[in-house]
Amino acid sequence: MFGKDQPVILHLLDIAPMIESLKGVVMEIEDTASPLVHGVVATTDLQEAFTNINYAILVGAMPRKEGMERKDLLKANCGIFKVQGKALNDYANKDVKVLVVGNPANTNALIAALSAPGLPKENFSCLTRLDHNRAKSQISKRLNINVNQVHNVIIWGNHSKTQYPDVNHAYISGSATGGEKSQVRGAVADDAWLQGEFITTVQNRGGAIIAARKLSSAASAAQAIVDHMRDWVKGTPEGEIVSMGVWSDGSYGVAKDLIYSFPVTCQDGKYTIVQGLDVDAFSREKLELTEKELQEEKEEASAFLH
Ligand SMILES: NC(=O)c1ccc[n+]([C@@H]2O[C@H](COP(=O)([O-])OP(=O)(O)OC[C@H]3O[C@@H](n4cnc5c(N)ncnc54)[C@H](O)[C@@H]3O)[C@@H](O)[C@H]2O)c1
Ligand SMILES: *[C@@H]1O[C@H](CO)[C@@H](O)[C@H](O)[C@H]1NC(C)=O
Ligand SMILES: *[C@@H]1O[C@H](CO)[C@@H](O)[C@H](O)[C@H]1NC(C)=O
Repeated sequence: MFGKDQPVILHLLDIAPMIESLKGVVMEIEDTASPLVHGVVATTDLQEAFTNINYAILVGAMPRKEGMERKDLLKANCGIFKVQGKALNDYANKDVKVLVVGNPANTNALIAALSAPGLPKENFSCLTRLDHNRAKSQISKRLNINVNQVHNVIIWGNHSKTQYPDVNHAYISGSATGGEKSQVRGAVADDAWLQGEFITTVQNRGGAIIAARKLSSAASAAQAIVDHMRDWVKGTPEGEIVSMGVWSDGSYGVAKDLIYSFPVTCQDGKYTIVQGLDVDAFSREKLELTEKELQEEKEEASAFLH
């Protein structure tokens, strides 16, 4: 995640009923015989887990149980992320970078950030890189090219079925185009697919994986976490856009103070929201729909914040 020669000390936090399982995870980590693992701290104690950490990947969340109302689910997750936000504030290194994976990821990240007044809002993010990678992969399959020849797809908004996978600024490169850049929209040459099945496939992919595996995506989510953190810390290649759920500063007319997935580039450990991209009427509607969802969720969550 941080390069081939960057040692790490892993702090693993889980809840008390999972302690045996956590021990199993530690055994597996040991058995990877990774020379970069310079230590493992496995604990159920928040202070021990969060003390002096530089990076936090918050995966644990309350899953939806049979018959559970969305409001109750939100309440349970607000409880978790309020406590973890405060622990970050109190115990973590001041330049800690936080990635929230546990769902609802955007709002959980917002709660954590709001619960850590001593840390900059720009240091909190949520994972939409998996959606980004899914969009790239669907385009590469469609064009029968390698996935690394697909550039600058964008995921806007919530990590949910209302997310908007946008290829209006995406292009393909490399041998497929004789070294020339070519716009994805032109190369695919099928707007009905791009504005229909492509979007719904990416939006529903998480659900499709759960339906097939009876479990939420694991390897692809882990890869997306690695991609997100590596790019944030080490920077994106020149001209390359990736998607991150970050604190909205009002870019593209999106309401401020939401964690919303934007197109970003990263350099020197900081992300910048890419400015000035054209947003057509079709896209505008999609951006607003997913924004509205996040605003509603924020309002509901604010009842549990205090
Ligand atoms: N944003 C994304 O792209 C994305 C992708 C995949 C999964 N997810 C989400 O990530 C979450 C985890 O998924 P998973 O498949 O790894 O689930 P999982 O159940 O396998 O693992 C979650 C772990 O978190 C622990 N946990 C629960 N509450 C905790 C707490 N308060 N403190 C510390 N640990 C706690 C659980 O005991 C469990 O070990 C889910 O919410 C899932 O929906 C998001
Ligand atoms: C996080 O916070 C530190 C210290 O406040 C700051 O220097 C750094 O640039 C921030 N990192 C981001 C935005 O990723
Ligand atoms: C936003 O996305 C999350 C993650 O998929 C989902 O759990 C949540 O229900 C969505 N928000 C709303 C208001 O639908």
